[in-house]
Amino acid sequence: MNTRMRRAAVALCATTMAVSLAACGSAKQAGGGDKGDKAGAKKGDALRVGLLLPENQTARYEKFDKPIIEKQVSELTGGKGKVVYANAKQDATTQSQQADTMITNKVDVLIVDAVDSKAIAGSIKKAKAQNIPVVAYDRLAEGPIDAYTSFDNEEVGHVQGKALLKAMGDKAKPSSKIVMMNGAITDPNAAFFKKGALAELKGKVTIAKSYDTKEWKPENANANMEAALSAIGKDKVAGVYSANDGMAGGIITALKAAGLSKLPPVTGQDAELAGVQRIVTGEQYMSVYKSYPQEAEIAAKMAVALAKGESLDSIAKDKTDSATEKGIPSVIVPVVSLTQDNIKGTVIKEGFYTLDEICTPKYKAACDKIGLK
Ligand code: GAL
Repeated sequence: MNTRMRRAAVALCATTMAVSLAACGSAKQAGGGDKGDKAGAKKGDALRVGLLLPENQTARYEKFDKPIIEKQVSELTGGKGKVVYANAKQDATTQSQQADTMITNKVDVLIVDAVDSKAIAGSIKKAKAQNIPVVAYDRLAEGPIDAYTSFDNEEVGHVQGKALLKAMGDKAKPSSKIVMMNGAITDPNAAFFKKGALAELKGKVTIAKSYDTKEWKPENANANMEAALSAIGKDKVAGVYSANDGMAGGIITALKAAGLSKLPPVTGQDAELAGVQRIVTGEQYMSVYKSYPQEAEIAAKMAVALAKGESLDSIAKDKTDSATEKGIPSVIVPVVSLTQDNIKGTVIKEGFYTLDEICTPKYKAACDKIGLK
């Protein structure tokens, strides 16, 4: 993603909940407002927002995304708006059914974080036909969506790739072998993470084995890591690129089970509590910290505005193209590399976790050692 998109992240009209949406955008219709009865009618605050999340193994979805979107929708509608929630547990067919049920039940707007960005397009077309606007959340769903918010996903890959090279130190040389554990191919973000990381790693190290991990599952990453260790030789792996923290957990379990005295550096993403604790002990080198509150607040603002038939002009300053659509109004949120040095300034500062949640008795000594107290 480019700087134009990154700049949009700071161009939000209002981050405080005290500012009303009316002050945020004009009351003119969103695109297509003259065609349908529903889009034409101005809605009040008693809105129903359908929220479709892709899985529940990665902690972010049920711990952050869902409750923050619910809180925001409530605040933006004076307590009258409600979120109808469904989690697809990594199943694209389930997610399409969940979307179709919400469309049949006539929700006012959908927020969709797609399991499979192509498979969901049919349901998005159905929503469009019923004049139900759709916000693509975190992953760029195909089909006629009205808005999109996510992080700078290619930048996530760059941040991970750069960090891995840094952690490898003088082992970051073309003869050193690394393993690449990418996310699920159905997730468009996984391709962006991979692209960004490859741009950093190519030519600097040897990518001895590379996997696209089915459904992002830690156990699949664990099995793939075991296979990589026996193919490459356990002492020959100089670093592991892991696209997220859940998989990093599976990878580190495999590395430890192989009986390595010193683990190679492993990357991650999502700032999961277990990931942050592994960073504290040094088992995992880094994670990527993404402000879910910021992303979720933007999605809620977009959804409420669209449901009310208001313009997104002042919320979404940028445009993104998907495989099927051009010029989708978007907001792209920046990301931060999370290592031992900035745990306090990121996850603790933004209230993801308290110091006590991270530095439990098991991790107390490691926390003390890195000055986290
Ligand atoms: C990505 C998302 C990441 C991570 C991953 C696994 O699309 O951006 O934050 O959660 O999916 O679910």
